[in-house]
Amino acid sequence: MTLQLPLALRLLVTFYTALAASQTPPQTPLVQTEYKVGQAIPVSCLNRTTDSGEHVTDASGQLVYSPFPICNETGRPLELLFGIEREINCTIDFISDPFFHLLEFYVHNDAPLTCRIPTKPLPPSPSKAEFEKGTTDLTEGQGSLSDIYTPMVVALAGTLQLSHLHVSTSLNVLVHAAPRNAAPGTIAAATAYSISRDPPTRIVIGDPLPLRFSVRWYPTTSLPSGWTGVGGHLTFSTLVYCLISAGASAAICLAYFRGVELPRRLKMHGRDRVGGIERGGLGGYGVGIGNGNGYGGYGPGKRD
Ligand SMILES: *[C@@H]1O[C@H](CO)[C@@H](O)[C@H](O)[C@H]1NC(C)=O
Ligand SMILES: *[C@@H]1O[C@H](CO)[C@@H](O)[C@H](O)[C@H]1NC(C)=O
Ligand SMILES: *[C@@H]1O[C@H](CO)[C@@H](O)[C@H](O)[C@H]1NC(C)=O
Repeated sequence: MTLQLPLALRLLVTFYTALAASQTPPQTPLVQTEYKVGQAIPVSCLNRTTDSGEHVTDASGQLVYSPFPICNETGRPLELLFGIEREINCTIDFISDPFFHLLEFYVHNDAPLTCRIPTKPLPPSPSKAEFEKGTTDLTEGQGSLSDIYTPMVVALAGTLQLSHLHVSTSLNVLVHAAPRNAAPGTIAAATAYSISRDPPTRIVIGDPLPLRFSVRWYPTTSLPSGWTGVGGHLTFSTLVYCLISAGASAAICLAYFRGVELPRRLKMHGRDRVGGIERGGLGGYGVGIGNGNGYGGYGPGKRD
């Protein structure tokens, strides 16, 4: 009895501790810490002054970013979807006078179109401002802006004309996710650049700007090798293919030689040996000497 009582007590205590633990609400994560595949990622871009293309800062000296212009196709600012490769049509309905001036800066390389995407999902709006300043302890890794956002500079190509612009509106967007084992659902790097797939679009103030994004995702920070055409390097599969085809052609040649060519040659060789003995006596060498002697010895001039 003396031994059993403390045991019963201990069991009781353990039971109540477990009960108490089960009754505290489960720790709901305040911030979603990783993107799910297909989750929308908002794109925002740096505000610039339209007279000089300088970036705009707020009262506390922070750079001001605002959402990417609204796409006519979706009625929303440009969004990428995590891990989803797709073509996005984003037509900016009406190029205002200030926006036209900014486009001039972009294509004339006075200032880049500097955008960014959240590296991980942003918390809901109310806490967002605090979160960005790094004053909350909602997640580990808060603090500097560079942790929260990943830059995505859009290298917009075009030419500046007197009255209008030519803009290459087809763009590639490359996004790298961090390796899954290191940081799942996290963006590691991103970039976008004009490609000359279509002739450049002629733009004046008031026109729509039909941007065509081709989005590709990479599961690590390294790019796969894409060059397989003429002059490309030798890949392993090419090497294997070459070896197999070399082996196959050698086998076919051998079979042909053994089955067809060799018996024919043997036959011809046998025939050659029979005829060769006869012809051998009349070989050029013997005839030549004979002729030489003959003509020399029996020449008409010498006979006289
Ligand atoms: C930033 O630019 C957006 C439009 O791109 C504009 O609505 C907003 O007022 C600008 N903010 C500042 C602080 O200049
Ligand atoms: C995007 O627009 C082009 C025409 O500019 C059209 O051919 C294409 O089907 C559109 N793609 C999507 C995904 O809407
Ligand atoms: C954009 O959408 C509006 C309303 O849906 C439409 O009236 C307008 O023609 C569209 N603009 C372009 C450039 O597609």
